[in-house]
Amino acid sequence: MSMHLSEQIQASVAAIRQYSDTEPLVGLILGSGLGTLVESIEGGVAVPYDQIPHMAPSTVLGHQGQFILGRLADLPVVAMQGRLHFYEGYSMGQTTFPVRVMRALGCQVLIVTNAAGGIHPDYQVGDVMRIVDHVNLLGMAGNNPLYGPNDPALGPRFVELGEAYDLELGALADEVAGELDLSLQHGIYAQLSGPSFETPAEIRFLRLIGADAVGMSTAAEVVVARHGGMRVLGFSHISNVALGEPPRAPAEPQPALAAADPHHEVLEAGRRAIPHLEALIRGVLQRLPEVL
Ligand code: HPA
Repeated sequence: MSMHLSEQIQASVAAIRQYSDTEPLVGLILGSGLGTLVESIEGGVAVPYDQIPHMAPSTVLGHQGQFILGRLADLPVVAMQGRLHFYEGYSMGQTTFPVRVMRALGCQVLIVTNAAGGIHPDYQVGDVMRIVDHVNLLGMAGNNPLYGPNDPALGPRFVELGEAYDLELGALADEVAGELDLSLQHGIYAQLSGPSFETPAEIRFLRLIGADAVGMSTAAEVVVARHGGMRVLGFSHISNVALGEPPRAPAEPQPALAAADPHHEVLEAGRRAIPHLEALIRGVLQRLPEVL
C-alpha cells in the first residue's frame, strides 16, 4: 500500500525544513508570469520542487518550480514560484499537494494568483479581478481534488464552500486597492483543464453559466485549502479577453495568424500587471494582522 497522504506531506515538510526554519503564516501561489513577486521576499530561501519528496516538478515555461520561504511585509511567507497544472499530466491530488504542504508548514492564509482570460464584457487586458467565487468545472465533472479516501486529520469528508473566498480578506483587499487607487474587478473564475484554449462556443457557454474569467488552475487548490481550513484570497490577472464570437463565414477574409504565441502573450501581460498585484498583496499583508 502506498504511503498515506499525511506521511507524504510530513516528508515534504521535513525536506523543506532542511533549507529554512521560517514558519510561514501565508502561502502565496504565483501564476503565469507573476513569479517575479518573490524578488521582494526578504531573506528568501529557495527550495526547488525536485528536492522535495512527493512533489511533482513544474514543466511549464514561466513557472520556475520552487518554493521561496522568507518575509514579505514583515510576515513569514512561503511562495510557490510556479504551480502545477492538471494539463501537465498530474492528478488533481498532485496539483494540490503543495497546498497541503503549505498548510502543514503552518500557513493559515492562502493567496492565489493566476493569469486568466476575461469573459465579462467589461474586462480589459491588464485588469486585476478579485476572485469572489469559482466554478470548478473539472470537479463538477468528477475530478475533484478531494476524490478518494478522506484523512480526517487533514480535513472533513464534506467541505463547505459557501464562502470559499474569505469575505473579510476580500473586504481588506478592496480597501487596500482603494487606498492604492487601483481598480479591482470582482468576478467568478472558472477552472478548465487546458492546455487548449476555449472555442468561441465554449466561451459563450462559460458566460451563460456566470463565469467572468477562465483559466487552468486555482479552483482545485482553493478546494484543498478550504479542506485544510485555510482562509483564501484570490486574484486573476486578465491577460487576454476571450470574446466568444461566432465562427467567421468562410467567405470572409481570414486574419493573419497572430505572430505571438498565446502563452507568450499571457506572460507579457502578466509582466505589466506585476507592480499592481505586488503592491496590492504587500498592502494586504501589511494589514493582515488586523483580521487574523
Ligand atoms: N483561457 C484559459 N486559460 C487562460 C486564458 C484563457 O483565455 N488566459 C490565461 N489563462
